[in-house]
Amino acid sequence: MPLRLVRAVKADIPQLVDLYFDTFKSPLVLKVKPDVPPVREWYKKSLESDIEKPHTRIYKVVEGQAESVHASDEIIAFAKWSSPHTEPPQEKPPEWPMDGDIALFEEVTGKATEKKKKIMGEEEHWYLSVLATLPKHQRRGAGSLLMNEFCKQADQTGHRSYVEASPLGRPTYQRFAFETQDTFSVVINGEPYIDCCMVREPQSHREH
Ligand SMILES: CC(C)(COP(=O)(O)OP(=O)(O)OC[C@H]1O[C@@H](n2cnc3c(N)ncnc32)[C@H](O)[C@@H]1OP(=O)(O)O)[C@@H](O)C(=O)NCCC(=O)NCCS
Repeated sequence: MPLRLVRAVKADIPQLVDLYFDTFKSPLVLKVKPDVPPVREWYKKSLESDIEKPHTRIYKVVEGQAESVHASDEIIAFAKWSSPHTEPPQEKPPEWPMDGDIALFEEVTGKATEKKKKIMGEEEHWYLSVLATLPKHQRRGAGSLLMNEFCKQADQTGHRSYVEASPLGRPTYQRFAFETQDTFSVVINGEPYIDCCMVREPQSHREH
């Protein structure tokens, strides 16, 4: 069955939440966003708020023929990114449930924010915040479909792009010309967990 890339809509959010928790199983995510109902509800509210924002874009990959995308089609992958914009005055994010490891969450977001500020400063840029393909559908090209769309949009505006890459995501981002600028690490269950801060230069004659 061919894969199709489509802009996600609000009605997709329950499936996107399921996909997120079925896909992200890294030691970090299991600690800070455990798969329990309050955290799922928090993530659902975050997506509902994000999808309304003018600079946020959420795309999904479904299986199906070109002419026939139905609301009931299974979503096998999705990505979320934001286009270059000036950060609005701090909006109140959905209230964080107390179920995850709050100290670790704060340590990671603090380190990630500090590195991003150091690398990107005040420069407007594309920010890729989620890329996920359901495990049973990985290695079929769904992630590449999403990355191609992301890169096409980034190349059209000519801005740089930024992503914090987990060890699993890094090879995909490298294939799409992201380069590691820095790293940060936290210790989880006694083991170091390293995220890469990656930047992609816009490309003017890229073949997608
Ligand atoms: C990272 C991730 C999104 C990649 O998604 P994907 O849909 O498997 O991506 P693709 O299928 O386009 O590419 C993955 C690999 O499959 C290969 N591939 C693509 N189409 C293929 C096909 N038809 N047959 C065989 N292999 C294929 C690609 O060449 C690539 O190989 P490589 O990693 O050796 O370079 C996915 O592994 C994932 O969701 N991981 C868990 C969540 C995560 O860590 N996300 C990143 C957060 S930073």
